[in-house]
Amino acid sequence: MTIPELHKPVMVDETIGFLRLKKGYRVLDATVGCGGHANFILEKIKPNGILIGIDRDEKALEIAERQLAEFKKNCRLVHANFRDIDTVLVKLDIDKIDAALFDLGFSSFQIGDDSRGFSFAKDSFLDMRMDLSSGLRAYDIVNKCRRQELENIIRDFGEERFFKRITSFIIERRSKGAITSTLELSGVIKAAVGGRYKSQKIHPATRVFQALRIAVNNELDNIENALGKILNFLRPGARLCVISFHSLEDRIVKRRFREFKKEGQGDIITKKPLLPRDGERSGNPRSRSAKLRVFEKTN
Ligand SMILES: C[S@@+](CC[C@H](N)C(=O)[O-])C[C@H]1O[C@@H](n2cnc3c(N)ncnc32)[C@H](O)[C@@H]1O
Repeated sequence: MTIPELHKPVMVDETIGFLRLKKGYRVLDATVGCGGHANFILEKIKPNGILIGIDRDEKALEIAERQLAEFKKNCRLVHANFRDIDTVLVKLDIDKIDAALFDLGFSSFQIGDDSRGFSFAKDSFLDMRMDLSSGLRAYDIVNKCRRQELENIIRDFGEERFFKRITSFIIERRSKGAITSTLELSGVIKAAVGGRYKSQKIHPATRVFQALRIAVNNELDNIENALGKILNFLRPGARLCVISFHSLEDRIVKRRFREFKKEGQGDIITKKPLLPRDGERSGNPRSRSAKLRVFEKTN
């Protein structure tokens, strides 16, 4: 398999440009995935640079290892949650890095994997864990959460306005037996919202699936935590690039960057988030919701 079949990295030229990479740099790729961006980063920092590539998905890391094999001596691939950046870097005996990238969310590799339950278009068990060694699955949320909790998840993480109706349908359906598969859940959602979604471009299950994925993987809290730590490891002049894929993520990044600036930690390089160019948007549908924000640490 080649990288494009696995996952097409988004906004590569823009990201690599903003990171201002040089030979010998130490770069953190906090979401190395299948190694898409990492490959381009390594090309810039070889022959003696170091890429610290973190991912919480062991399956993705195995692929990254293969994809980045030619740079083996330059790579430190670590199975970890990026919220534990401090522990990872201390263990590697690295105190300062020259650039950092967070390419948030999930990869095409994960959504394309039939066994993971990320996609409402493929029938599989309702799992949605990025880290297969972590506990909670979407199945547990859908079948075990109380009404209020389920409503909150669907409303807050899915920004789904029919959250009450969808929750009622889920609770009614699960009273007859557990909802175990993606297609079953998608069917319940469709039944709940009926024709209400007809005028919208997205599938009726999109928002609920997003909500469950965020809840299962504790995504927003992880971003808050990681951004709260990362500046301690950037050397003055180092840049941080964050690519987000929905407004909940982007809001956190935007707010955090403003706080960093207020604290006198550096400058926001992208006054407005950068969006993919038209050519990329048409060639890679997944890139359409991408937003890139860049911060430069100055002291
Ligand atoms: C959009 S993909 C990254 C793709 C990568 N840049 C590439 O070009 O191949 C996002 C990756 O981040 C990982 N991820 C998401 N949240 C994470 C977290 N809290 N800690 C570590 N990895 C995480 C996912 O498992 C996924 O592989």
